[in-house]
Amino acid sequence: MIRSNIKSSRILLKRGLATVADPAVNPPRHYGGLSDQDRIFQNLYENYGSDLKSSMRMGDWYKTKEIILKGDKWIIDEMKKSGLRGRGGAGFPSGLKWSFMNPPGWEKNEGPRYLVINADEGEPGTCKDREIMRKDPHKLVEGCLLAGRAMNATAAYIYIRGEFYNEAVTLQTAINEAYKAGLIGKNACNSGYDFDIYIHRGAGAYVCGEETALIESIEGKAGKPRLKPPFPAGIGLFGRPSTVTNVETVAVAPTILRRGGDWFASFGRPRNSGTKLFGISGHVNHPCVVEEEMSIPLKELIEKHCGGVIGGWDNLLGVVPGGSSVPILPQSTCTDVLMDFDALKDVGSGLGTAAVIVMNKQTDVVRAIQRFSAFYKHESCGQCTPCREGTTWLDRMMRRFVKGQGTEREIDMIWELTKEIEQHTICALGDAAAWPVQGLIRQFRPEIVKKFQQYEEKMGETVSYGGWVPKGDVKEGKVINNPVPESH
Ligand SMILES: Cc1cc2nc3c(=O)[nH]c(=O)nc-3n(C[C@H](O)[C@H](O)[C@H](O)COP(=O)(O)O)c2cc1C
Ligand code: SF4
Repeated sequence: MIRSNIKSSRILLKRGLATVADPAVNPPRHYGGLSDQDRIFQNLYENYGSDLKSSMRMGDWYKTKEIILKGDKWIIDEMKKSGLRGRGGAGFPSGLKWSFMNPPGWEKNEGPRYLVINADEGEPGTCKDREIMRKDPHKLVEGCLLAGRAMNATAAYIYIRGEFYNEAVTLQTAINEAYKAGLIGKNACNSGYDFDIYIHRGAGAYVCGEETALIESIEGKAGKPRLKPPFPAGIGLFGRPSTVTNVETVAVAPTILRRGGDWFASFGRPRNSGTKLFGISGHVNHPCVVEEEMSIPLKELIEKHCGGVIGGWDNLLGVVPGGSSVPILPQSTCTDVLMDFDALKDVGSGLGTAAVIVMNKQTDVVRAIQRFSAFYKHESCGQCTPCREGTTWLDRMMRRFVKGQGTEREIDMIWELTKEIEQHTICALGDAAAWPVQGLIRQFRPEIVKKFQQYEEKMGETVSYGGWVPKGDVKEGKVINNPVPESH
């Protein structure tokens, strides 16, 4: 026990040295202010077309053959050097993940091997991958070819959310153009490497964004996550070695390989390198998707690119910095926090998909988080009891809390409920449902209590039965005991 404590404190110390401001290791510098020549997604504002000719003018498909010929090891080493961490939410190092496809002796396992692109983008607040597919589809197509080469894959499946009809059409047009120009398919780019790309349209279930549910869905089954292990790199799509990876992760790869891993690693803090698409929505003057340097201060991101918070910075209530599944941060934290994996983790939240949801003081924050709870309840696939039952209870209790029907004891109960869900499920949807409620309680408990008090004042004195606040009949300003719970 003591040994493991010592070990974990060593790990913390190590991580602390690498990530927390230590002037000796990381001399402080300002992050943000990415210049135009360092933007990977040149067409985010549709200054060019999305066709092959326009994409070549922006530098896509330049020396692709030479990169392919450098081989899998070179590509993976360069990706490792870049420090790229997956842009799908979990932030796992991409070079390392891609290398799992090539264990010693992989060549003996003959047959197809798949790269699977996660274009499901179902996380509320997230709207970056669709921008890539609409405006820069060739970055994704070329990325598939190069990531495929790194993994020695024979084909790529792009699993795109069903609602993205226009994006699927644009992407298919780009794939057709690439086939016609000999850039993909048999002897891709004249390199001797054969590689096909297929699009598979989903039917719009959030859980199908989870990598193993996504694989099930492509195989024609209900999108229910699989238990791991086995991991997809061992047994994945159609039982073959596969890697599921996000659109943005793959679309940045060609530029990294052309400009070098060191170039990409020069942006952002150590362990958090690169440029990143941020999607900012909610109570800002100009919601947008923008590419910026990792580790840009959150306040600068909002003020520089979104025209500030509606009503000014002092009117900010809080920010959900990484899509609906990460905990909300209060204004006081938002003023200084940097937008990267480690900085947001250190303040009890996460970068997630970098979908920044801004809420000003006119927001009913309890209602906002209840809306998230309703979403997760709706999207639970129902396989695991803690998730199926837990998300239902979270939703029910949060609905009552919004109306002010509850007791302080129930805040502790709902907290415990989130702890029963968290880490007790097959996939991370359970955690995603638990964290927003935890964030609400951690940062805005007084707001919930205020609602209870307002309800009490309105209804007169209330009586609680084992945590239930009875609806009661009001007589002479008092609630008459009525043991029938509100939600029954
Ligand atoms: C419920 C759930 C939904 C998810 N939805 C998405 C999604 O829409 N897009 C995505 O890229 N990753 C999503 N993920 C994460 C994927 O499982 C996987 O980690 C990711 O695609 C890996 O890509 P990366 O290594 O490039 O980050 C989701 C995970 C869970 C648990
Ligand atoms: S955590 Fe929820 S969504 Fe994920 S497998 Fe279990 S029941 Fe399904």
